[in-house]
This record gives sequence, structure tokens and C-alpha cells, in this order.
Amino acid sequence: MSESAVSYPGANDPIGARRTFAIIAHPDAGKTTLTEKLLLFGGAIHLAGAVKARGENRRARSDFMKIEQQRGISVSTSVMNFEFKGWTFNLLDTPGHEDFSEDTYRTLTAVDSAVMVLDAAKGIETQTRKLFEVCRLRDVPITTFVNKIDRESQDPFALLDEVGSTLALECVPVNWPIGMGYEFKGCYDLIGKRLLLVGKENKNLEPEVIILDKGLDDPRAAEMIPAAQLAKLQEDIALIEGACPPFDIESYRQGHMTPVYFGSALKNFGVDELLKGLGEFAPPPRPQPTDKRMVQPTDKGVTGFVFKVQANMDKNHRDRVAFLRLCSGHFKRGMKLKQVSTGKSITVSNPTLFFAQDRSLADEAWPGDIIGIPNHGVLRVGDTLTESEDLRFTGIPNFAPEILRRVRLGDPMKAKHLQRALEDLAEEGVTQVFRPRIGADWIVGLVGPLQLDVLAARLSEEYSLQAGFETAPFETARWVDAENPRDLHDFVEQNRGTIADDREGNPVFMARNTWELSYIEKKWDKIRFHATRERH
Ligand code: G4P
Repeated sequence: MSESAVSYPGANDPIGARRTFAIIAHPDAGKTTLTEKLLLFGGAIHLAGAVKARGENRRARSDFMKIEQQRGISVSTSVMNFEFKGWTFNLLDTPGHEDFSEDTYRTLTAVDSAVMVLDAAKGIETQTRKLFEVCRLRDVPITTFVNKIDRESQDPFALLDEVGSTLALECVPVNWPIGMGYEFKGCYDLIGKRLLLVGKENKNLEPEVIILDKGLDDPRAAEMIPAAQLAKLQEDIALIEGACPPFDIESYRQGHMTPVYFGSALKNFGVDELLKGLGEFAPPPRPQPTDKRMVQPTDKGVTGFVFKVQANMDKNHRDRVAFLRLCSGHFKRGMKLKQVSTGKSITVSNPTLFFAQDRSLADEAWPGDIIGIPNHGVLRVGDTLTESEDLRFTGIPNFAPEILRRVRLGDPMKAKHLQRALEDLAEEGVTQVFRPRIGADWIVGLVGPLQLDVLAARLSEEYSLQAGFETAPFETARWVDAENPRDLHDFVEQNRGTIADDREGNPVFMARNTWELSYIEKKWDKIRFHATRERH
């Protein structure tokens, strides 16, 4: 994008300058590398490798993080705030592994747009697709970054075709690669009509980027790009200009069109353009749905919702932080906010803003910002906080677990301790817990098998509890309710052996298999069975 095309906001429009986004990617596509480069360009860190170093520090702290290290996956979510040319970015990191889709889903409820990173050799992979579907459910606009073009890759036209046909998104390239792999010479900026070419490498092995503002008319183009590649580039550009629709910001913001950046996070190509593109095109804080009305970011009163709770971020302090996405109003430190579910008021005296490498106290925050509120288990995922109004943000669900396990304790004397630990971890979304109406054992519900390892490791590391997990006689669970409370009462009474209560006391029906579930659903036609439950 050309400098002249970009309008930079300033401090006088704090809401309009906010961009809250997440990066979605299949593991290994380059999410960590791109995150690091975005932070580097945004001036939030000063050294390449800092994000990984931070990761390693964290990993050294617990077994839970060791799992992350062993399996090479990222399982925890974090928030990074940084500024770039007058915009304030909030980058929400999402766990990439499929087992953590529930946590990821909730994180995606807190963003206004997403960057989809593809590996140029692999195109769309399973996890990209799943995460994309979650974004589509909420019409989250997608910006595409095709990474690793400095390696042997698929043909860029074929990649555009794949995105267009598999995701039903209209693609508009913003820049275009000149060669790939060893032949990679740089990119052509289709909006600014400039050439950005690979120069000499510096001591960090990062190449200098040489910018030719006159694009193909610059006489140096012919000196720096071999004739055959230059001819191919001219052909490609003619084809794109003839065949691709013009970029339409409204269509992008409604989730129908995606701007596509080709680049190399490793070699710094396309990253600067991507950041400017996010500033220029990505939506500022969007209106958010509640049970009463749409909350506009410009509304006066402060409102927000908790999309994540993380316990034991610092093991020595047993702290617990609720991540609040602000939706309206100008938040100031020391404000009293009402937890709508209980009507209790909470003085937010030490809200935290998260930067790339540290956290700091937030004196103020605006819609789109994420603040961490340290608390002792009062705040829960899905909670709405407001200055006074009684409304609840909607759309932050619990998912029916796909794996149910009975928890067996090595030391039965520690049952109370186990209950506390499970409740803590359930609150964080690491697991769901169910208490069967008959029997003394807890049942944990998980969305994927890796979650079980994380749960066991954290119980042992953080709570000194050695717990085993036995196969429960149940395969799946559904929340149940009914129009008429009598019907629900009858159902629960007649199926006591398969009824449990979730952490909040809501009745759950546990089925031995899907056949039994559909049988019971038909038999009890006045009962509603829910695979997701909105948190209140
Ligand atoms: P992830 O968070 O999406 O899982 O991916 P990550 O950034 O960790 O990148 C995965 C691997 O791909 C890393 O290599 C990384 O260096 C490499 N990579 C990322 N972006 C690019 C790029 O633009 N070009 C090229 N050529 N490689 C890229 P690794 O060998 O697994 O790790 P490392 O030892 O380099 O850290």
C-alpha cells in the first residue's frame, strides 16, 4: 500500500484507532514468526526471537508448559497490545491445536477481525479451515497472509483459487510475489505500484528491503530482476488487473472478500504492508449483541464481557486473571463495575494491560481493548460487566464435551481439594466438570484428548494431586431444559442414573452413545437437549 493511500488516525479518535484481531493458522504455518514480526514493526519488541524467548521462560515455569514444548504447540492464550502509526492494535493469540477449539472459539468472540496465515506450499490445512468456520459464524472479516514465499511454494494463482473455492471468499491480492524459493526477488505492491526487492542480508540474516517507488518504470527494475522474471511479473499483473475485482472495503468487512498479502514473515516481506492494511481496512471495534440491544462502541457507559479466565499465571501468587473485552465507554482505573449475573459491584483498582513482554497497570482503556482483572474466582467466562445497565452479552457458549472421564484420586482424603482444583480449572475452560446425581466421583468433560494430558499435568504441578482418569460409561452429554418445569422434573427423576449437574448446577443428561441419545430425545419430546449452553 502506498503511504499516500493511508490515512493515519490519531489520539483524538481512540475508538476509531483500535484494531482488535487474532491470527488463525494451522500449526507450523508461521503464526509465531509473524506475531513476532508484527510486534517488531510495531516497536513493541526490539529483538527478533523475543516471542519465542518469552515462550521459553513461561515454559520453564510448569509441566503444563512442558507439554506445550514437547508437542510443539501453543495451548495458552495471551493478549498483546502495541501501537503502529497512530493505530492501537490488540493482538489476541489463539491456541492452534484442535483440542483447544473451545478456548479458541471464545477468544474469537472478542476480536473484530482475523489474519489467516497460510503456508504457501500447503495452502489451506485442516485447522485453518476449522478456525475459519468459527470466524464465519460471526462474520469476522479475514485478511489473508500467504507466508513462506521465500520457499518452494504453490503457484500464487492456484493459491488464490483454493482460498476462493474452499472458503467461498472473494480474493483480492494486495501485493504479488516475484519468483518463489531460491528465485524469490521480492514483491510488487499492487496498490502503491511499487517494487519491494530483496537486498543484502544484515547480521541477523534479515534482508534489507529495497523500495523502487516508480515500480516497473524504474530503470533499476531491469537491473535487479532477471528479464524472464520481469516479463512473467508484467504478465501476472496484467492478468490480475484484468481478472480480479477491485477491493471493496464493505464486502471485506462483511466477511465476503479477503485482501491477500504474499510474504515471508521470516524475511520481513509483506509484514509492514499487512500492518498498514489492518490499520486502513480492518474494522474498528464492532457493535456487540446483547439480550437487550446492540451495544455501540460509542455508547457512553462502560460495558464489556469476560472471554477468558486464566488461573495461576504466576504460580507463586496463585493469581487469577479475567480477560475483559471492553465494548463501550471510556474505562478508567478505580471504576466500579457491576457483575450483571450477581448484581455485585467490583472496584477495578488494578486492571492490567498486556504488552508484548510485560504487563502494566492500565490507567484507562477504550472499546476494543482487553484488560486483565485480577480476582479470586468471582469473575467467570461469559460474565458481563457494566457501569450500571442490566444487559448481557450473548454468544459465548459452552460446548458439549466429546470425551467424558471419571476422575479417580490416588488419595481419597483429598476429595475436597480435588473439587476446588477442578472448579478452578473448569472456570479457566481447561475442562468441564459434572457431578453425577448418583455416585461420588467427578466426571470431567473434554473437547479433545490432549486436554486430558494438560488437566493431569496441571492437577499434579499446581495442586499436587495425583489423579487418574477412567473411561466413564458415557460418551456424550447434553444440557437439558423444558418449557414446563414439571416435564424437566419428571425427566430428571426417571433418569437419575444418567443425570449430572454442571458447575453451575444446570442438569446435564449423559448418554452411553449417540444411539441412546437420539432414542431418549425422541422418547422425551418435551425435553430440549442442547449441545451448547450460553453462559450466564
Ligand atoms: P507456528 O507458530 O504457526 O506453529 O509457526 P512458527 O512461526 O513457529 O514457524 C514454523 C517454522 O516455519 C519455523 O521453522 C519458522 O522459522 C518457519 N517459518 C516461519 N515463517 C517463515 C517464512 O516466511 N519463511 C521460511 N522459510 N520459514 C518460515 P522451524 O525450523 O520449525 O523453527 P526455528 O528453529 O526456525 O525457530
